[in-house]
Amino acid sequence: MNEILRLSKPISWLDGIDPRTGVIIQPNHPEKGESIAGKILILPHSTGSTVGAYTFFKLVKVGKQPKKIILERPDSVTISAELAGIPVEVPMVREVHKLEVDAPEKFLRFLEKEASISGSKGFIKVNSVHISGVSYSTIGDAGLEFLEEVSKEGLLVKVKSTTNPTGMDLRRWREMGISEGYAEKQLRIVKALLSMGVEPTFTCTPYLVGNRPKKGEHVCWGESSAVAFANSVLGARTNREGGVKTIVAAMVGFTPKYGMHLEENRRPNLLVNLEVSLRGRTDFGALAYYIGSLAPKSVPRYEGIPKASEAELKSMGAAGAASGSIELFHIDRITPEATLPSKEGCERVRVGSNELKETKELLSTSGSVPDIVVIGCPHLSRDELVKAANLLEGRKVRIPFWLFTSREIFEKNKDLCRRIEKSGAKVLCDTCMVVCPLKDLGYNVVATDSAKAARYLHTFQGLEVVFERFESLVSFYATRS
Ligand code: F3S
Repeated sequence: MNEILRLSKPISWLDGIDPRTGVIIQPNHPEKGESIAGKILILPHSTGSTVGAYTFFKLVKVGKQPKKIILERPDSVTISAELAGIPVEVPMVREVHKLEVDAPEKFLRFLEKEASISGSKGFIKVNSVHISGVSYSTIGDAGLEFLEEVSKEGLLVKVKSTTNPTGMDLRRWREMGISEGYAEKQLRIVKALLSMGVEPTFTCTPYLVGNRPKKGEHVCWGESSAVAFANSVLGARTNREGGVKTIVAAMVGFTPKYGMHLEENRRPNLLVNLEVSLRGRTDFGALAYYIGSLAPKSVPRYEGIPKASEAELKSMGAAGAASGSIELFHIDRITPEATLPSKEGCERVRVGSNELKETKELLSTSGSVPDIVVIGCPHLSRDELVKAANLLEGRKVRIPFWLFTSREIFEKNKDLCRRIEKSGAKVLCDTCMVVCPLKDLGYNVVATDSAKAARYLHTFQGLEVVFERFESLVSFYATRS
């Protein structure tokens, strides 16, 4: 008899399931400790990282995959299980659309299945793809094998395709302490991707390095923080796509038209009254993290935020997509679609200083002195590097202090990076604190100012975390010289 497991809450595929055993490990999940292996798994939808789609390949590799997944609400990350050979269904039978373009048959059939599961209104051509699932730490051998198979077939991307961070600085990996064995696997992933014709951006901020879609443009992006930024700050249209799916979409150039591609789904369904003023990206991140936990699949509209920098907005997007699966948020008078009428029966919540304080306390799992400070989740922009250089001017760091940015921003701002490195801090590229093997490098307690990084450093890497403002981390751990 088929055993059924019904999840009463959404699950994060990246850090909510042990890929070696199929057991649910997501903290506070009501079904924590249950195994999904061999079961018919019914779940509301997924939350968190788009890279979680590679967990299906890992589960299949060790025979711990569910027999079938029944999704109550379609989401691209979970639908990607089909590519690993796990059947995905929705309770209702939907219309089947045919996709007739010149592309590999198996990819067309997958997109047709996704369209049918999601109740899509046909397909839409996309102007760019952002590929997530590039680090060996997140996709493992199963992901590497999938990418090498696609590469061997000689397939090339059909649209502009940028790439998410790898597991190491591709030039300074030895300085980071990365092992030869890890580097060999990571370089094979990079080689496989480059053979497909992708752009070697290796950043989660493609919108800062030439892949910046305009309002109303349809794209297909993985990397949940970039998805939230594209939808919310740029007004572009993308669903939160699973890492494997982004490879498929890059080869086909089309995606099913549902979710965030349709205006009706972009209207706010949660009004957030802010009763506290926010200071810097740590506060913006904590606010969005709180809302993501409270209403994981919502489209919130924030009221009471008088201004926000692009750095603060990208922190917000990252955090709401880490605790929940928020693909789009609006801020009155700031984001381009904030005037869209809210949905009927829209709920209202208020957030004050207590909620922010509690969220920050939740994200800080340790009161100990950290072994390392890690900044740059999402990757730092030029403006943020300027701020870092000014803060670190005339100081020497007392513990390792790593800042992460994209290769392109690093290359264009070498003088700025040199100024930062004079303090003893390092500016690293092509990777980040979450997707590099920080724990294997010997660190146990990390300090960060990013809500998204705080979450995954604890749950995905198993590290203790100090969540603090960047300014405070500089004054605590970099002394005046
Ligand atoms: Fe980017 Fe890594 Fe954070 S990919 S959003 S810096 S977890």
